[in-house]
Amino acid sequence: MKTVEFEQPFHVFSAADVRTALPMDEAVKAMRQAYQELSTGQVNVPMRTHMSLEQHAADVLVMSCYSPRLKQVGLKIITLHEQNSEVGLPYIQAMVMVVDADRGTPLAVMSGAALTALRTGGGAGAATDALARPDAARVALFGAGTQAEAQLEAMCAVRAIRRAVVFDLDHSRACRFAERMEADVRIEVAVAATPAAALAEADIVCTTTTSREPVFDDRDVPPGTHINAIGVYKPNEREIPGATVARARVVVDEQSAAWKEAGELILAQQEGLIGRSHVHAEIGEILAGMKPGRQSEEEITLFKSVGVANQDLSAAHVVLARGTRLGLGSAVSL
Ligand SMILES: NC(=O)c1ccc[n+]([C@@H]2O[C@H](COP(=O)([O-])OP(=O)(O)OC[C@H]3O[C@@H](n4cnc5c(N)ncnc54)[C@H](O)[C@@H]3O)[C@@H](O)[C@H]2O)c1
Repeated sequence: MKTVEFEQPFHVFSAADVRTALPMDEAVKAMRQAYQELSTGQVNVPMRTHMSLEQHAADVLVMSCYSPRLKQVGLKIITLHEQNSEVGLPYIQAMVMVVDADRGTPLAVMSGAALTALRTGGGAGAATDALARPDAARVALFGAGTQAEAQLEAMCAVRAIRRAVVFDLDHSRACRFAERMEADVRIEVAVAATPAAALAEADIVCTTTTSREPVFDDRDVPPGTHINAIGVYKPNEREIPGATVARARVVVDEQSAAWKEAGELILAQQEGLIGRSHVHAEIGEILAGMKPGRQSEEEITLFKSVGVANQDLSAAHVVLARGTRLGLGSAVSL
């Protein structure tokens, strides 16, 4: 029997295409929906696989998802190479693919590095909108890398941010970040000399570091702060002190993934500081109105994200739809 040739074009989107097709406000919107679909059982997201490439000081994660609403399957391969900055390459590189679920036809491939930053920023934006005080206006960023840029853009998309401070162990990287981001988000962005100085000026904190140890002291966290803990995806590492986790209202992206990968929770549990019931909700449950969010002006809210595959598919779906409408990318036949 002759194989039918489908005319379906296959789209390739560069990092620049992804950024044009998915502005931050669209990313926040897509992540709000993605988290709700995740927490109400409307997507199939198998646990991701971790491969450690010890000789290369690297990890490889493979993430897949099926969405009946989108009638699409998403697949991401993401590499994390610890020593890449020494040769001027990004820590994270990735590729995201979209496949038509009806027929199995591959539809698109795109820069997963750009998409990851946007969907992670958008996810923290959706969580911050639900959990931070309405009057939050000052952001402290720990880490001045790729994710931090998208975090600051996302915070500016959901709150009237007036000022940001950034702390990075690499002071010159923090200075370059501040200069670049001042021009980008058009607010004052200063460099903090110490973690305590960064926290003293914060209503919202985003941690996007590669640190394996807490990046600040619990005693320096002011009441009423909202924290987005983004960096850690391994059970034996943490950016947030156990004492902060223990006194915060903790919200996660997905319970089973968090209890497998979020060192902040797993280490605090091992130390007897929290039990499993300490996690108040998945963010999708709060966004869907199933559970309440912040309960008082003074409480500390903590959103722990490890990242889930339906964030990638939801974001990639928007890039494919808007990108083709805007004439971005190139269409090839496979
Ligand atoms: N939750 C998610 O969905 C998600 C998605 C993407 C990346 N991540 C994680 O976010 C983290 C950052 O990724 P990136 O692409 O921005 O990396 P990056 O290498 O571009 O930036 C990380 C920065 O953290 C700084 N840093 C390390 N230790 C620090 C400390 N103790 N205090 C302050 N700064 C410190 C480094 O100097 C570097 O500038 C990684 O751990 C990555 O795995 C999470």
